[in-house]
Amino acid sequence: MRLMKRKLPRLCTDRLVARLLEPHEAGLMVRFRDENRDHLEQWEPLRQPAFFTEGFWEVHLRLTLRDFRDGASVSFVLMSPNEDEVLGVCNYTNIVRGTFQSCHLGYALAEKHEGAGIMFEALSLTNAYMFADQGLHRIMAGYLPHNERSGKLLDRLGFEKEGLARKYLKINGRWEDHVLTSLVNDAY
Ligand SMILES: CC(C)(COP(=O)(O)OP(=O)(O)OC[C@H]1O[C@@H](n2cnc3c(N)ncnc32)[C@H](O)[C@@H]1OP(=O)(O)O)[C@@H](O)C(=O)NCCC(=O)NCCS
Repeated sequence: MRLMKRKLPRLCTDRLVARLLEPHEAGLMVRFRDENRDHLEQWEPLRQPAFFTEGFWEVHLRLTLRDFRDGASVSFVLMSPNEDEVLGVCNYTNIVRGTFQSCHLGYALAEKHEGAGIMFEALSLTNAYMFADQGLHRIMAGYLPHNERSGKLLDRLGFEKEGLARKYLKINGRWEDHVLTSLVNDAY
């Protein structure tokens, strides 16, 4: 079987660049993760100390490039326009093809960039890329019922609520209920 060579995405607006990072850029991720350790703790899985090291991110970024080429995920990093700062991340994972053509979405923004419409701007672009370039039909995102910012963001992007999943993800060490939402590509 001939493998399709996938071109790495690079999506730009006046305020951000969305692309995958290279392993040699691990230090930028460490800075983002370190500066936002407290801010993100309550919304994410428990992180081991290694998660805040360059060694971890060198390996992880290499794996995200491999997964991209395998068609398994697209892990966007949102950079400042001059690409010297990570503003946030949006990860499209668990890409399933066949009759499903779907994936899961997770995202996080630096605390200092909240409230400026950055994530909305980024996800508008990256969702369109996942539909038009990756050919997906459905993007699924879940959020903690008390995560109002996340709920508002998904609603504005057109994600529809589909239900409440009991003890759905292990967040900060505890299994937590999540509101399930999806964005469906109605173009085909
Ligand atoms: C969820 C998260 C990404 C939302 O960030 P955000 O900045 O609120 O999201 P948006 O990009 O939609 O911005 C909306 C805010 O920007 C404001 N805004 C300012 N300029 C804007 C513009 N040009 N366009 C749109 N919104 C703008 C909006 O009024 C809104 O502010 P408000 O909530 O005070 O009313 C962020 O809070 C985060 O990373 N949280 C921690 C991690 C997390 O929860 N991840 C998701 C797990 S499900």
